[in-house]
Amino acid sequence: MSTEETATIYGREEFKRVDVGAAMRDGHPDISDGDQLIVDLVAKKRETAGRPLTVIDVGSGSGVLSELLAQRLPDCRVIANEIAANPARQARERLAGHPNAEVFPDSFVDWREPLDIIISWGSHHHLPHSHLQHARELLGESGSFILGDEFCPEYCTDEDVRRLKGAEVIELGGGYLLAGHDEIEAYAKDAAVPEWSRVLEDRRRRTLWNWYKFVIDYAIERDHWPVAIAEMQITKDDMVTAFEEEHKLSPLIVEHELAVNGFEQISKHVIGDRPAELQSFFIYEFVPGNDRSNGSNGDGRGNGGH
Ligand SMILES: C[S@@+](CC[C@H](N)C(=O)[O-])C[C@H]1O[C@@H](n2cnc3c(N)ncnc32)[C@H](O)[C@@H]1O
Repeated sequence: MSTEETATIYGREEFKRVDVGAAMRDGHPDISDGDQLIVDLVAKKRETAGRPLTVIDVGSGSGVLSELLAQRLPDCRVIANEIAANPARQARERLAGHPNAEVFPDSFVDWREPLDIIISWGSHHHLPHSHLQHARELLGESGSFILGDEFCPEYCTDEDVRRLKGAEVIELGGGYLLAGHDEIEAYAKDAAVPEWSRVLEDRRRRTLWNWYKFVIDYAIERDHWPVAIAEMQITKDDMVTAFEEEHKLSPLIVEHELAVNGFEQISKHVIGDRPAELQSFFIYEFVPGNDRSNGSNGDGRGNGGH
């Protein structure tokens, strides 16, 4: 396969002249509402801290959210972190008029300075999952991790949740969810995939298909063909089990992933007043848990309202 075929849409030639971030705020449900919620959360933290904060926007794309933050909180240092050249250039242009805002164009794992707030908005399902340990190390005692994403609407049954909670570690192997060291070792040894993981993956794809149909119809109803076409490409990427750079998981799976990586959940917000099968955008606040030695702090569920 060529590099083009293996890239997400952010690295593809056909999207080079498109400001994907701006287009998505126009033709895609929930993203602008999520921007406002995140800016409000950060503003509240700035107020509580009583001092300017250092905030990174990991996988900032063209910097739409970073700019909103810089406008609302001009005394805070806002870092738009984006590895793809085209959106990083767009973010630089967008932030040019904001003296306390900057672009960090390398991978998030190469950022070394301490941070007050780490925001991951629409990026979690693109990032190597090892980034969570890095995030935890960069946050001080009072630091927060704001994770908002387009998830696959919930597809876990009660039985899946029981199985997840029993796993001290979870990982993807060829796109299949592996729960626990035994499953991870068996996959590494001879690519063994448990039947449970195959059934879960089938349910993920079907749930996603329903969500993407809604998103693409939403764009077409608004005559927003660039978003509709981008989403058709993203749909294909996401349906290919082994393509882990575009792999939306369910909220409960990601909550457990954060818990086993030592984060405590403070709040959970859902965007969009729709039935559960069309609820994809969730925004969470996490803090590093107390036990920093082994990255584990229980199930990580907080009481935050929707
Ligand atoms: C869906 S986009 C996020 C959209 C953006 N947050 C917004 O508000 O418009 C995910 C972005 O993460 C970037 N990305 C992927 N891996 C990264 C990494 N290791 N470090 C920083 N950015 C990364 C991709 O290039 C892509 O632009």
